[in-house]
Amino acid sequence: MNPSEQEQRKKSGPPLAIFDCPPAFAEARHVGRPNIGNRDRFLARLNDILDKRWLTNRGEYVIELERRIAELIGVRNCILVCNGTVGLELLIRALDLRGEVIVPAFTFVATAHALQWQEITPVFADINPDTHCLDPASVESMITPRTSGIIGVHVWGRPCVTGELAEIAARHNLKLMFDAAHAFGCSHEGRMIGSFGEAEVFSFHATKLINTFEGGAIVTNDDRLAEKLRLMQNFGFAGYDRVIYVGTNGKMSEVCAAMGLTNLESMDELIECNRVNYRAYQRQLAGIPGVQLSVYDERHRSNYHYVVATVGDDASLSRDELMEVLHAENVIARRYFFPGVHRMEPYKSYFPHAHLLLPRTEQVCRQVLVLPTGTSVSGEDIARICEVIRVALDNASPVRKRLEELRGPAA
Ligand SMILES: Cc1ncc(COP(=O)(O)O)c(C=O)c1O
Repeated sequence: MNPSEQEQRKKSGPPLAIFDCPPAFAEARHVGRPNIGNRDRFLARLNDILDKRWLTNRGEYVIELERRIAELIGVRNCILVCNGTVGLELLIRALDLRGEVIVPAFTFVATAHALQWQEITPVFADINPDTHCLDPASVESMITPRTSGIIGVHVWGRPCVTGELAEIAARHNLKLMFDAAHAFGCSHEGRMIGSFGEAEVFSFHATKLINTFEGGAIVTNDDRLAEKLRLMQNFGFAGYDRVIYVGTNGKMSEVCAAMGLTNLESMDELIECNRVNYRAYQRQLAGIPGVQLSVYDERHRSNYHYVVATVGDDASLSRDELMEVLHAENVIARRYFFPGVHRMEPYKSYFPHAHLLLPRTEQVCRQVLVLPTGTSVSGEDIARICEVIRVALDNASPVRKRLEELRGPAA
C-alpha cells in the first residue's frame, strides 16, 4: 500500500491500529506483570542472606514466611515449595491419590499434569458458567469405582463450592484438595482460602498477586500430612544422615522467601490497586452489549487479581476478533485457559470426546478474555483499553472486514 492509501485508510476507518493508526500503547500492556514490593527491603534481606551464607535448606527466611502465611490463612501448617506445580504433585502423592481424580478442564494445565505425571488419570468435570469453578453435579456424575479424589480449583480466586464438594467427597469416601494457585488473600464464608479440604496449594509464580519469583505453598491443618510433606519435599531426610521416606527436591530457597516476605508486606496495597483497576474496568465497560465482567462476590474477600471479560456470542465481534484488535494496540489480553485442558495433549488423544461432556467449559473457553491489570497498569491505561473495546465493537463490520484482509486469503 502506498502512503496516500494508508493516509486514506487512517482517515476513513475507525481510530484503531488495525486501520493504520498508531497503537494505543507504544509499550505493551501485559496480563500478569509481576508486582514488586519494597525494593530496598528486599535488597537488605538479600544482603543479609549473602552475609549469613545460608541460601537454602529451610533457612530463617523460609521459616519466617511459613509462619506468616500459616498465621494469615489461619492454618496449623505451611510448607513452602519451589513452585505450585511441585506443591500439587507432592500433595497428590502424600494423599495417596491413585486411579482417577476429578478435576476441571477449565484450569491451568499444571492441575491435570500433576496427576498424569504420577500416572493418575485426570477425569474432567464441567464448571458453573457463572463462577468458572467445578459444578458439583458434574463432579458427582464422573465418579467411578476407580475415583480416589477431587481437586477443586478456585479459578480467578473465586471460591469453589467447598461445602458441597466436601459433602460429595465424604459420601463417596474421596479425598478433597484444592488448587488455590489464584486465591492467595481470598476468603470464603468467613474463612481464608487455604483452610478447606485436606490441604490447599498456592502458587507464588511471578504472575501471581504475591510472588517469590517462582514458588508455592501447601497449607493444611493436618499435622501428620504436613510432616509427610516435609519429608517428601526434602528427599525424605529426617536428620543429617537419616532418610526414612522417598522424596524429591521441592524446597524453596532463601532468596525466594525474602521476595515473598517483602511482597507480603505490600499485600493490602496490591489488592487495593487491583480493586481500583477492577472497578474502573467495571464502570467503563458497563453497558457495552455482549461484554460482561466477571463479578467478585462482595461477601468474600477477593484479591481482584484477574479482570475477566466474557465476550458473549451476542457481542458484535467474537472474543478472538476483539483480541486481535487489542493485540494490534499493544494490549496483550489473554484467552485463559484456552482451548481447555481436555483439548491439550496428552488428554486430547486420551479422551477425544471429552468436550461432549463439558459444554460449559467449552463455552467459557470460547468467550473469556483476561485484561491487563496490576501495579503496572494505570487508570489512564484502563480508560484507553476500554475505549478501544468500545470503538471496535461499535464498528464491528469494518473491523471484521479489515481483520480478514490482514489475515490474507485462507490457506
Ligand atoms: C490454576 C493454576 N494451577 C497451578 C499453577 C501452577 O503454579 P506454578 O506456576 O507455581 O507451578 C498455576 C499457575 O501458574 C495455575 O494458574
